[in-house]
Order: sequence, then structure tokens, then C-alpha cells
Amino acid sequence: MRFLIFLCVSLLLLINSKIINGQTTVPFTTPSVDPCYNYTSLDEPWRATDYSNNISYYNIMCDNNVEWNGWYRMFYNGQKTQMPESCVSYGMCGTVYPMSLNGPHPQLEDGVVLRQVCTSVWGGCCDYTSHPIRVKACPGNYYVYEFVKPMFCGAYCAAEASIQSIPSVSTTTERISPTEPITPPITTTGPAVFYPFGSAAGDTINAAVDDGNSSVIQLLSPFLFFGRTYQQIYVNNNGHLTFNQSSSAFVPYSFPARGSQDIIAGLWTNLDNRQRGVVSYQQFTSGNVLTRANRDINTHFPNLTFTASWVFVATWDKVAYFNLTNTETSFQVVLISGGDFSFILMNYGDIAVTGHPVQAGYDTINSTHYFVIPGSINGSFISNLRNSSNVDVPGRWVFRVDGGPGNGIVKNNVVGLRVRLSSFLDLNQNGSAEIVLQQVKQELVKYGLPNNIELKLRKLQKIKP
Ligand SMILES: *[C@@H]1O[C@H](CO)[C@@H](O)[C@H](O)[C@H]1NC(C)=O
Ligand SMILES: *[C@@H]1O[C@H](CO)[C@@H](O)[C@H](O)[C@H]1NC(C)=O
Ligand SMILES: *[C@@H]1O[C@H](CO)[C@@H](O)[C@H](O)[C@H]1NC(C)=O
Ligand SMILES: *[C@@H]1O[C@H](CO)[C@@H](O)[C@H](O)[C@H]1NC(C)=O
Ligand SMILES: *[C@@H]1O[C@H](CO)[C@@H](O)[C@H](O)[C@H]1NC(C)=O
Ligand SMILES: *[C@@H]1O[C@H](CO)[C@@H](O)[C@H](O)[C@H]1NC(C)=O
Ligand SMILES: *[C@@H]1O[C@H](CO)[C@@H](O)[C@H](O)[C@H]1NC(C)=O
Ligand SMILES: *[C@@H]1O[C@H](CO)[C@@H](O)[C@H](O)[C@H]1NC(C)=O
Ligand SMILES: *[C@@H]1O[C@H](CO)[C@@H](O)[C@H](O)[C@H]1NC(C)=O
Ligand SMILES: *[C@@H]1O[C@H](CO)[C@@H](O)[C@H](O)[C@H]1NC(C)=O
Repeated sequence: MRFLIFLCVSLLLLINSKIINGQTTVPFTTPSVDPCYNYTSLDEPWRATDYSNNISYYNIMCDNNVEWNGWYRMFYNGQKTQMPESCVSYGMCGTVYPMSLNGPHPQLEDGVVLRQVCTSVWGGCCDYTSHPIRVKACPGNYYVYEFVKPMFCGAYCAAEASIQSIPSVSTTTERISPTEPITPPITTTGPAVFYPFGSAAGDTINAAVDDGNSSVIQLLSPFLFFGRTYQQIYVNNNGHLTFNQSSSAFVPYSFPARGSQDIIAGLWTNLDNRQRGVVSYQQFTSGNVLTRANRDINTHFPNLTFTASWVFVATWDKVAYFNLTNTETSFQVVLISGGDFSFILMNYGDIAVTGHPVQAGYDTINSTHYFVIPGSINGSFISNLRNSSNVDVPGRWVFRVDGGPGNGIVKNNVVGLRVRLSSFLDLNQNGSAEIVLQQVKQELVKYGLPNNIELKLRKLQKIKP
């Protein structure tokens, strides 16, 4: 049975939250049936260690999205293969973080053994990211693995050794024939929610430096941020804005940090504009961009009768994650001010999933005000940023940040939440809905909402399975 429930929440969230009923697998008990004869076959060519790391938002593979259950045997195009026994290069196996076995496979006589699975992250391979699985060697010269859900967006790799004899793992495709002229990428087109950006729009471009930043930007109009007025700002390549000093931090801290700086994080993570993409910015005091800002703010805050006098647009256009050439992540942070008001708009385009720590939102000195965009603290979910909103415009989050009355406080950003549940609970029964609400709340808190949010059931509707 499936239900749709509509909740009143202190925030607009568009989340597909799947509540799975019941049963966690108990690890490391003796299998009831010999797994050599009771396994699921995995034959996915992209798992190969030499498979192209042509990763984009659309085709990245993440085994942490799979509900693993029981034992698996690996094939490559019908041929038997096995997991690699040493670390695989970062970005291979169709995923961001490839997973290999730490050391040799067991022998037939060893029976079921525990082995560590290592995850290749940019800094290393077999450290804090490893987790155990059970492995068994089988008569007939093959292995079975009891795969479990990894912590990161990784994939269990299929070893190169066994597949080298098999020709044509297609790794690259030539996109442009040699006779065609190569056209430079156009940097000004973006998702509809984006404000104009790129060199064609007149932006200043940040240097392509890992963990770099803009030079200090003197603001043409002071920006009021929760009671403090700033005359300058830095656009840091790792996806965040700071006022008093630049930041090279590629690992975000969690908001609220009760720290000593004001910070605005479009998507603070380990981005790398040397590999791909452009970080740029521009400020405006007249023209179409101001007209647009006026319209947007007056739409999102109809009671303010706001007139924009200054707009600052910082754009991360198709920027790669650290040392990966093939991921693209695009977002904007727009600062808008006029009169005594100031606002932040965050616009999200395609956001590639990542295993790097991430954080989107804002935080102030001592965290007197802060906000974490739901889902933005887990790299496996951040692609949802293009779909979520607090103003009913997918991909856009807007905050009033001057510090005047009625802003920055979560409970004033109320809208609604729709949740699709797959469960055998009868929600009409006494108390069931309340339990589900509590589960939903726990999920939301994990996504970064404060613990004191209150969920109220507005409507419960049963739909066809
Ligand atoms: C075979 O494995 C599956 C998946 O773990 C399990 O559900 C099933 O009970 C097993 N079959 C037998 C006969 O044990
Ligand atoms: C991120 O998501 C994965 C996959 O659902 C989950 O296992 C992991 O615990 C999450 N991490 C955090 C920090 O929420
Ligand atoms: C990478 O994948 C995209 C989308 O799947 C495809 O359009 C593109 O041609 C691929 N590029 C290469 C070099 O394989
Ligand atoms: C980054 O900011 C620092 C000041 O914090 C500055 O010295 C440095 O020149 C900036 N980098 C670039 C590329 O402008
Ligand atoms: C930022 O710099 C200004 C001027 O030096 C100073 O007055 C202010 O206290 C600084 N703010 C923070 C948060 O460091
Ligand atoms: C905005 O104005 C309308 C009409 O004047 C009023 O009904 C509504 O309560 C106001 N909203 C807020 C948040 O003040
Ligand atoms: C990143 O890539 C550069 C060259 O592409 C390489 O020299 C460097 O070792 C890589 N760093 C990491 C941490 O993988
Ligand atoms: C932050 O907290 C510290 C210690 O409680 C306090 O001394 C300081 O004045 C606070 N700063 C601001 C800007 O509120
Ligand atoms: C987000 O929206 C895109 C299209 O705009 C859609 O393809 C994708 O499935 C959506 N993702 C989620 C998680 O809803
Ligand atoms: C059902 O709900 C009513 C009203 O909330 C409550 O008084 C009653 O104890 C509940 N019954 C059960 C079996 O939980």
C-alpha cells in the first residue's frame, strides 16, 4: 500500500524520502545456504577498472543507492571476473570512489572469510573509508561477495586482470571530427534560474588555482549581513563567499559552527577550476539585472515593496571536483541589497554527486543566524539541490539576511512538504502517522534541519501502488 501524506512543516522541502520498513541485515552470521550456489550475478561493464571515468550528473554510478542483499558474483560481459586486489585509480569503475579488495582473495579451503574493501579517495585508498565484506572462493574458480551498502558514492570494481583479454571496453568517443572547427564553450548560458554570468556578460574571472580565491572585491554598495556592514568580499573557488579574508578551505565546517566569521556557502566543497569550469563574479548597480532582482525579491517577499540598488552575482559554472576532469557542478550566489534590506539568492544547476564533504547555506559569527539547505550536507544527495526550493522555484533558495525582523529564522520560511512513502503501515491506524512523522523528522534533521522543527499532518491521501 502506498500513501501520500501532506505535512505542514516550517520549511519548504521537496524530498523523496523512502522509509523502509523493518529489518536490518545482521552481518557476519553463517549463511544458511552455500553462497557459491545462491548468488546474484552482477554484469555491469561500467564496473571495469579501466572503464572511462566519463562521469557526469547523469551517468555516475553509486553503490550506496543500491539495496544490497545477499551474495553476488561478478561478470564482465558474461565472462567471469573478480574484484581487484589493490587500489584502483580515483574516478574509474564508472563512479567517483572505486572500491577494491584489500589484498588477495581467499582459497577454496578458507571458506567464508572477512575482507576489507578499500575506497580510493583523492588522498589515499585504504584508510577510514574501508569496510568489511564476506568473501568466499568457490569450486569452479570463482568468488562470491556479500556486498553491503558503502558509505560513499563508490562502486565495487571488476578487475582489469580478467578482462584485459576482452577487447573494446569503450572508454572514449570522439566527439568532434578532425575536419570540424572546434568551437569554444559558451559560458553564458545556464539554467533558467541563473542570472547572467560568464565572460560574455562581463564577469571578472577567478584564476584557475586549486583552493584559490578572487582578489579582494570592493563593494560598490555596502552589504548588510545580520547587523554587520561589509565593504568587501572574496569569492573563494571552493564554493563560498567570505568578507574579511579569503578562504582556501576545501573541507567545509558544519553550520552552525559558532565560529568567528560570516560565511555564505553556495556549495562549499572541494572544487577545482584547474580541471574544468569557470568561477566568476560581477556587481551591478543598474540595468536588467537590477530589474530582475526587483522582480524576484518582490515575488518572493510580496510584503516588502523592495527596490534593489545593488546586485552581486558569483557563478561557479561547470566546475569540477578536486582532481576530477569529468564532473560538472554549476551554481550561483546572488547578493541583493536596497534600502535597509539585503538578500541572498542561491541558484542551482546540475550538481554532480560527490564523496567530498559539502555544505550549502550560511552561517554567522557565533551562529546567531544560520541556515543549512536540506540535503546539502551529504554529497550523495546534493544533486537534489536543483529540484529543491524555499520559494517554490526549483533550484532556488532565497534568504533575507539584513537582520531586520522576521528573517533568517527557520520558522518563518514555512511552506510544505510532500512525502512519498512505500510501507506496509496502515497510516489510518491510530498513531501510525505520528510514528511516520517522527521518522520523517529524523530524516530531515539528518539533512541539516534544526532538531526543534515541528511537523504537522495536514492531509493523508492513499494513492494507487
Ligand atoms: C538465497 O539468497 C537470498 C538473498 O540473500 C535469500 O533471500 C534466500 O533466502 C537464499 N536462499 C536460500 C535457499 O537460502
Ligand atoms: C550520506 O548518505 C549515505 C547514503 O544514504 C548514508 O549512508 C550516509 O550515512 C550519509 N552520510 C551523512 C553524513 O549523512
Ligand atoms: C560522456 O557522457 C555523455 C553523457 O552520457 C556523452 O554525451 C558524452 O559523449 C560522453 N563523452 C565521452 C568523451 O565519452
Ligand atoms: C586570495 O586572497 C589573498 C588575501 O586573503 C590574496 O593575497 C591573494 O592574492 C588572493 N588570490 C588571488 C589569486 O587574488
Ligand atoms: C572585518 O574587518 C573590519 C575592518 O578591519 C573589522 O572592523 C571587523 O571587526 C572585521 N570583522 C570580522 C568578522 O573579523
Ligand atoms: C502580507 O500582506 C498581506 C496583505 O496585506 C497580509 O494578509 C499578510 O499577512 C502579510 N504577510 C506577512 C508575512 O506579513
Ligand atoms: C592531482 O592531479 C595532479 C596532476 O593531474 C597530480 O600531480 C596530483 O598528484 C593529484 N593529486 C591527488 C591528491 O590526487
Ligand atoms: C561571540 O561570542 C563571544 C563569546 O561568547 C563574544 O565574546 C563575542 O562578542 C561574540 N561575538 C559577536 C559578534 O557576537
Ligand atoms: C530533478 O529534476 C530533474 C529534471 O529537472 C529530474 O530529471 C531529476 O530526476 C530530478 N531529481 C530528483 C531527485 O527529483
Ligand atoms: C487512538 O487515539 C485516541 C485519540 O488520540 C486515543 O485516545 C487512543 O488511546 C488511541 N488508541 C490506541 C489503541 O492507541
